[in-house]
Amino acid sequence: MLEGKKILLGVTGSIAAYKAAILVRALVEKGAEVKVVMTELAKQFITPLTMATLSKNPVLVDFFNPENGEWNSHVKLGLWADAYVIAPATANTIGKMAHGVADNLLLTSYLSARCPVFVSPAMDLDMYAHSATQRNMAVLRRDGVHIIEPGEGFLASGLIGKGRMEEPHEIVRYIDDFFDKKEQQGRFRGKKVVVTAGGTIEPIDSVRFVSNYSSGKMGYAIAAQFAAEGADVTIVHAAVDGRLRGTLPGIKEIKTLSAAEMYEQMIELQPESDIIVMAAAVADYTPEKVADHKLKKKPDDKNFVLVLKETQDIAEMLGKMKKEGQLLVGFALETDNEADNALKKLKKKNLDFIILNSLRDKGAGFATDTNKITIYHKNGERKVFPLKSKPEVAVDIVNEIAGCL
Ligand code: CTP
Repeated sequence: MLEGKKILLGVTGSIAAYKAAILVRALVEKGAEVKVVMTELAKQFITPLTMATLSKNPVLVDFFNPENGEWNSHVKLGLWADAYVIAPATANTIGKMAHGVADNLLLTSYLSARCPVFVSPAMDLDMYAHSATQRNMAVLRRDGVHIIEPGEGFLASGLIGKGRMEEPHEIVRYIDDFFDKKEQQGRFRGKKVVVTAGGTIEPIDSVRFVSNYSSGKMGYAIAAQFAAEGADVTIVHAAVDGRLRGTLPGIKEIKTLSAAEMYEQMIELQPESDIIVMAAAVADYTPEKVADHKLKKKPDDKNFVLVLKETQDIAEMLGKMKKEGQLLVGFALETDNEADNALKKLKKKNLDFIILNSLRDKGAGFATDTNKITIYHKNGERKVFPLKSKPEVAVDIVNEIAGCL
């Protein structure tokens, strides 16, 4: 799978940098073309000459060649690569990546990379376990970066624990598997998919909000299924079960809060998307005025009236903007007149199909681990599915979408 693949290898200043030499060799043996970008400190651990000889390409460290002023374009490097592998990745580089710091060529290349990014951390066990490092890695996961977990064992510090850079042949296997999966089961290879998930949060004042019980489980299951089938997936989520976030390797997660924020984000992503699945429970109304302080209780008022104004219907707007070949799928959660309501929404929002959940079905709807759906297509076709786990329902939905392409 690595034959002919262009791999950009980023090497940072860690004692494990010697393993990067073995990694280059293993990648080249598999037929990959490798270019190496190093940080200044990495040169202290392994020489550019070694890396250049093994990769058969000049090693890049500076933004320009000090000899002749030739510009080392990080944008070109980012576009050139089929995969960007940062191994070893120090806690420092991981932290900078998580925060968008771009003070060397390795980091600017990361920000310019459009390819999948793999990070193989290497550090002492306490640095690895530190909440700051774990937090930064969670950010990277949410940004769609694949973290190749370090192994446990003898560390350069003399301590024994987790933090040892994964062995080069395991890294090669990880990347090989990644391309393999993408190419084998890649029904959606090259397709850009956006899935919305969770319940929007509509602020009342600085401490209170209006929302709903959506957990985001259905949206995340759909996103995971698309990713497993080779799609390039972005999940735009509002409030979701915290355990879901950062769990999907290779999926970009964009956090929004209110219907208005989700609207902005979706309008931005729409032109580049091939498939959009609106699984989020978007508020139809939001408080007309948001107090910038905590509203106080008024002893004389027995009733509190909250005035709400209508939000933008995101699905409806996306339906209006729909371009040739783009697929738009929505959900309808109903408690009565289910079929009628779903069909009205299908038409009004110009969807390709709508997935109906009825709260009258036991095990269907919000915050459950199961769901029972009926799909209504715009051509009048109707498909009823039995009660299944949400990941199984996601497979049905993704199959249905594949059938529409
Ligand atoms: N939706 C949306 N923007 C909104 C409201 C809903 O994009 N402001 C999307 C949902 O993500 C879902 C579909 O539209 O895919 C249907 O949502 P639902 O709340 O069931 O429908 P509404 O049109 O809001 O109708 P109602 O609440 O009256 O049932």
